[in-house]
Amino acid sequence: MQNQTKKGVLSNEWTEKVREATDLVDLVSEYLTLKKKGKNFLGLCPFHQEKTPSFSVSPEKGVYHCFGCGKGGDIFNFVMEVEHFSFPEALRYLARKANISLPEKRDKKEMDYYEKLYHAVSTAQDYFRESLLDEKTSAEGWAYLNRRGVAREMIETFQIGYAPMSWEGVIDFGKKNGVAIDSLAIAGLAVKKDTMLRIPTGTGYYDRFRRRFTFPIQNISGRIVAFGGRAVNPKDQPKYLNCPETPIYKKGKELYGLAITKEEIRKTKTAILVEGYIDLVSLYQRGILNVAAALGTAFTAEQAVLLARFAENVVIIFDRDAAGESAVFRAVENLYDAGLNVQVVQLPPGDDPDSFVRDHGKEGFDELLKQSVDFLHFKKKQIGVEVSSLPGVEQEKVFMELAGISNRMRDEQRALEFLNQAAHVLQADLRLLERHSRRFKKNAVTAAALGAPAPADLEGDFLALLISHPELLAGSSGEWLEYFAKHDSFSLFEVLLGRHVQGQKIGFDVLMTELPEDKFHPYLLVLSQRDLGEADPKQLLTDYVNKLGERKKNQRVRELKQLLMEAEKAADENRARELVSELDKIIR
Ligand code: UTP
Ligand code: MN
Repeated sequence: MQNQTKKGVLSNEWTEKVREATDLVDLVSEYLTLKKKGKNFLGLCPFHQEKTPSFSVSPEKGVYHCFGCGKGGDIFNFVMEVEHFSFPEALRYLARKANISLPEKRDKKEMDYYEKLYHAVSTAQDYFRESLLDEKTSAEGWAYLNRRGVAREMIETFQIGYAPMSWEGVIDFGKKNGVAIDSLAIAGLAVKKDTMLRIPTGTGYYDRFRRRFTFPIQNISGRIVAFGGRAVNPKDQPKYLNCPETPIYKKGKELYGLAITKEEIRKTKTAILVEGYIDLVSLYQRGILNVAAALGTAFTAEQAVLLARFAENVVIIFDRDAAGESAVFRAVENLYDAGLNVQVVQLPPGDDPDSFVRDHGKEGFDELLKQSVDFLHFKKKQIGVEVSSLPGVEQEKVFMELAGISNRMRDEQRALEFLNQAAHVLQADLRLLERHSRRFKKNAVTAAALGAPAPADLEGDFLALLISHPELLAGSSGEWLEYFAKHDSFSLFEVLLGRHVQGQKIGFDVLMTELPEDKFHPYLLVLSQRDLGEADPKQLLTDYVNKLGERKKNQRVRELKQLLMEAEKAADENRARELVSELDKIIR
């Protein structure tokens, strides 16, 4: 089976151990706030933007499901989705959490593709760190760091490293530590040599980072996925060089520093967004700990959702010269969309966060933060006069910009609120604003439809009961197979019977992991949402069997009647007699 090979032989025994040791509610609670609702827990979905909680966790069944975006699964699916892990990574991650030591893989070659890349990156990190600590190679680097006033402690906290002037430094180091050039190349650390370039290397590859500081970029769980490199020599261009996108590093997915600052952001409910590595480190060094950096790339919806997992408010901070040029500022709709309150702070001309906090310290920075205003008030200040007193063309520009932000928001409710607020703050005519927005031509969100309960489905209820109480399968008879008219439910029931006969475990969580995803996953998710109430399972079973038996009987009666009509039309007396006799037996 395709699934078997994907998840490996190792997994079956160990997945169950890890599952037993992992509490789904605890696990999910690391990422969002869950509130108990009946037997289940409810929270804001971490996988899409929403304001009304539609993410439901059933501790009993060991599965979660979002009514809004349809994602769902068990503990493994959850960490795979939220941490972007492969299955083996998810297994290893959860095992580590539960203090279960998985058997070591015999052969390095078997290492998972992604695992290899993470390994290449962490080996490169070892190299950069060693190089920084080797005073011979890094003298120039240390001089630079000192000049910029980066404290030793920050170098440790952010694991800053140094790539010396060497064409094959990381390549050699990798070789000594069993990392193939291939992996380094795919991870963005080694670059294939262009034959036209006269670079003195023998391997056909050269180091991407040379004579630069390296800032490791961690994903939210703290794993290094890429690096940013700051040139030491002002003549070296570009000033900052980043890893390209790789299978483990997607631009616009991570926020620099967040893995380190997320707890502080959660505590203060506020994230201060800056653009640069040095800005973040510099603020952190002076005690402003709730910071994250967008790294100059367009601020994405994904980053906003990530931030909203920890923050309620976000303060965008940018230099006065660059007002409106900031990538975050240009994508402000993503922050609104993620449900965040958006505040804006402007630095004095010529300053960036790093230079400002070096001159004015934490007190000065706190003072500055006090002057932060919400985005719309900031706009108002920028415009300077009443919108209605602007010349027509200027007014139009303002409306287009605000309506544009609203149009780009995916959350309808939020978008409408934003327009309302904009009209209020700017004392603009709401109808004029609305006319610029497409929102009002569309239908409102079908929130009701999202949370609507599944229609009555006897076969599904029966399956849900059997999965929740697999011991009931002991009483199954061949007749049960006939209860399933739908293809989905029939094949799932066959699987249940098969597993029951072979003594394999049955449960929503186990099935989510072990059955082929495409085929069963969606249906299992639907079933896992069934609430069977408090009734005695045996009593329920009797009920279902009776009802399904009855239904089966009625179906057969309808079929026979149809056949009888046809037989009579065809004047086939023998056939008619047979049919009548069967009908008689059933009805009696
Ligand atoms: P800045 O040019 O404002 O630099 O770029 P900075 O952060 O103040 O850095 P220092 O103080 O000169 O060392 C802001 C951010 O934009 C990205 C980097 O993430 C940088 O931190 N950037 C900038 C690049 O990716 N490449 C560049 O060449 C320049
Ligand atoms: Mn700077």
